[in-house]
Amino acid sequence: MSNDDKLWGGRFTAPTDAFVEEFTASVNFDKRLYQQDIRGSIAHANMLVAAGVLTNDERDQICTALAQIEGEITAGTFEWSVALEDVHMNIEARLTKLIGETGKKLHTGRSRNDQVATDIRLYLRDSIDELTHVMDALLDTLLNQAERYNDTVMPGFTHLQTAQPITFGHHLLAWFEMLMRDRERLQDCRRRTNRSPLGAAALAGTTFPILRDQTAAELGFEAVAENSLDAVSDRDFAIEFCSTASLTMLHMSRWCEELVLWSCQQFNFIELSDSYCTGSSIMPQKKNPDVPELIRGKYGRVVGHLVGLMSLMKAQPLAYNKDNQEDKEPLFDSIDTLRDCLRAMVGLLGEMTVKEAPMAAAAEAGFATATDLADYLVRKGVAFRDAHDCVGQAVAYAIGHNCSLSELSLTQLQEFNQTISDDVFDVLTLQGSVNARNHFGGTAPAQVRLAVGRGRDRLKGL
Ligand code: ARG
Repeated sequence: MSNDDKLWGGRFTAPTDAFVEEFTASVNFDKRLYQQDIRGSIAHANMLVAAGVLTNDERDQICTALAQIEGEITAGTFEWSVALEDVHMNIEARLTKLIGETGKKLHTGRSRNDQVATDIRLYLRDSIDELTHVMDALLDTLLNQAERYNDTVMPGFTHLQTAQPITFGHHLLAWFEMLMRDRERLQDCRRRTNRSPLGAAALAGTTFPILRDQTAAELGFEAVAENSLDAVSDRDFAIEFCSTASLTMLHMSRWCEELVLWSCQQFNFIELSDSYCTGSSIMPQKKNPDVPELIRGKYGRVVGHLVGLMSLMKAQPLAYNKDNQEDKEPLFDSIDTLRDCLRAMVGLLGEMTVKEAPMAAAAEAGFATATDLADYLVRKGVAFRDAHDCVGQAVAYAIGHNCSLSELSLTQLQEFNQTISDDVFDVLTLQGSVNARNHFGGTAPAQVRLAVGRGRDRLKGL
């Protein structure tokens, strides 16, 4: 493309090197901003009428042509040109081709610097709304499954060693809490994303009597990004998004690690749906948990994008620098990855089969009710440290006799402490143990059901 056809060609005599043209272009990845770019241009054109820069007729021509261009892009008939560098200049060049001189007036009082900042903010805001929707579906799935398995007993772990019996519903509600915090963080990030840089122009504002409030309101921004230098160079919102996305991915990597463990033969707590697993090309018996493994792995790329964006912005002088063009790919990939992983989690959790018998057997095998026995002795007047020691001896005895605590006879148990009586066996059962933790935030089935109800109210209130 010769300089005559470039929107900034005026001061140049030699054409751009072909490699440099490719190297500096962003159109291949920023074209996904086309809807936001057109929305921003329409708001800018409307404002230019109010500012006395465009006539109504000129604005109408611009808006009609922009609608046509949007149609062409959506239909896939638009011809993108790398020589036109980015989404903004591709659309503007087409506009001028369609309506001539009037098209050239659109960029009055605007720069690509405030334009691109506006586009990314709008894109991220739209994406956050879409992500919130998928998160809500996942939160809902967690509540439904927690309700369904409110009294399913499994071993709870510390150090991945059997610790105390818990209910599976309670475990799922722990995940619910993590995701609720993620949702909150996402909404918080939305507030700071949703500010309008439009009107900052290249860096210093413009000599035209623009109305920044008007464009901000038309585009649904909550406020104007006030200082023009900051408005064109701020990418905090993208960093904040990648940070909150990383934390959500981190949470999902923890859940997926558990799903992988639970679905292996050695645990055998759950079976993932066939539709979320794949086989092995050599070992006919294999059913691999690829989806949770991939989600676990994808944490790496999102946290990588966070570090990438922080490094991109570090030490950048005010105001806009071309470095900023590198903000898009990490941001877009973080959005896509988070959305896909959240979606996959909805299916994984909604369709898994929970194997209640092996879960209970595992809790039974691991002396999970040892603390309950110690607490029982305390209620009989034994000091906790002595009770702890005495139950430790009972556990060692049971290990030696290859049985569980509840399989010891009353006489055998009394060898360890005389205060033990018949009622000890209620305490030693798994159901007795979980039912006893019957307080706000505890694992008892009754508490899980209450927490599910509160969770539903919290979701409704959002
Ligand atoms: N493609 C550019 C970007 O993404 C648009 C802004 C370019 N501005 C400039 N002064 N070269 O950052």
